[in-house]
Amino acid sequence: METKVVKVTDKNIDEVMEEAGSLIKSGELVAFPTETVYGLGGDALSVDSSAKIYAAKGRPSDNPLIVHVADYSDLEKIVKELPKEAKMLADAFWPGPLTMRFKKNEKVPDTTTGGLDTVAVRMPNNEIALKFIKASGGFIAAPSANRSGRPSPTLAEHVKEDMDGIIPLILDGGQVGIGIESTIVDLSEDEISILRPGYITAEMIEKVIGREVTLDAAVDGVSKDAHPKAPGMKYRHYAPKAELVLVEGEEAHVLNTIIDKASLATVNNPVGLMLRDAHVKYVREKLFKIPKDALVIKSIGDKEAEIAHELYKVLREFDEENVSIIYSESVGNGGLGRAVHNRMIRAAGHNILNT
Ligand code: TXA
Ligand code: MG
Repeated sequence: METKVVKVTDKNIDEVMEEAGSLIKSGELVAFPTETVYGLGGDALSVDSSAKIYAAKGRPSDNPLIVHVADYSDLEKIVKELPKEAKMLADAFWPGPLTMRFKKNEKVPDTTTGGLDTVAVRMPNNEIALKFIKASGGFIAAPSANRSGRPSPTLAEHVKEDMDGIIPLILDGGQVGIGIESTIVDLSEDEISILRPGYITAEMIEKVIGREVTLDAAVDGVSKDAHPKAPGMKYRHYAPKAELVLVEGEEAHVLNTIIDKASLATVNNPVGLMLRDAHVKYVREKLFKIPKDALVIKSIGDKEAEIAHELYKVLREFDEENVSIIYSESVGNGGLGRAVHNRMIRAAGHNILNT
């Protein structure tokens, strides 16, 4: 199959949406931009389309898909009950990077939800995504548009790398704004909990609903026995081809450790470094003796929002470099840092060096 990448503009948007919508209605898959990461869309109410999504991603079929809607009234059509918090959170954060989980009704096939009796739903904050959902009948199941285990795509080029020859159409909306996947909050049980941290934090949700929000124990995969409520959290994710080591601790210790490790780099054992902007120059100067071909240093930005935006792109770029090991600075665990830290430890497969 030939994969077409179409840059969506004000001029062609209506025409492109018509094509994308009819592909979805005929059971095909279309990749599209959202504000978080690119999604791999199919008809959420069709058994065959979800099977196609699992196959295209190489994803285990017990890992449920998020259903994307463009109208709040469409949410009511696919859930069994809507707790009052749903409207409060939608008013505050939709369209936006918040996914809410509910008890599903019979309209949603079990294949879409990996056999679960719940459905996770979100309304993305991206004009192309919203128009695409509407043109496709209102319910788009979409995981991130990467092959299973790879970093989520934040550019149409990333989708092309992973899905070339597998899907007919990629809608190119440029680089995404946020860069990490949506927050998932569970409203299907009495206790409201975060199943996956993201841009919308527990504190932001608590403020809106006036109730305590807990964090699912398995979120960071700390407890090996914990069964995550979001099945996707148990798989290794976002992984670059090289081994990734996350270096944590006091900043000065972290930098010294990174410099020590990188000073062993040779042309036969090249090392990659992921550093905050502010540290690149300092570390490079300390490592001036290392041959150029033995060391690849990439910046991940300084503030947490920048790191969220750059992280997956940098991880993918390292796949083009000849390095067998990458050492990365870590981030703090508060606010948006919690979500970024979660993605980093999972990309590193919990390979953490405490200094
Ligand atoms: O930002 C996002 O959410 C992106 C964009 C494309 O919208 N989508 C995304 O989908 O990240 P995906 O499939 O890569 O991750 C969905 C996560 C998985 O960990 C999955 O296990 C969980 O959501 N999930 C989906 N439905 C669920 C449900 N009913 N119960 C528990 N977890 C669910
Ligand atoms: Mg994903």
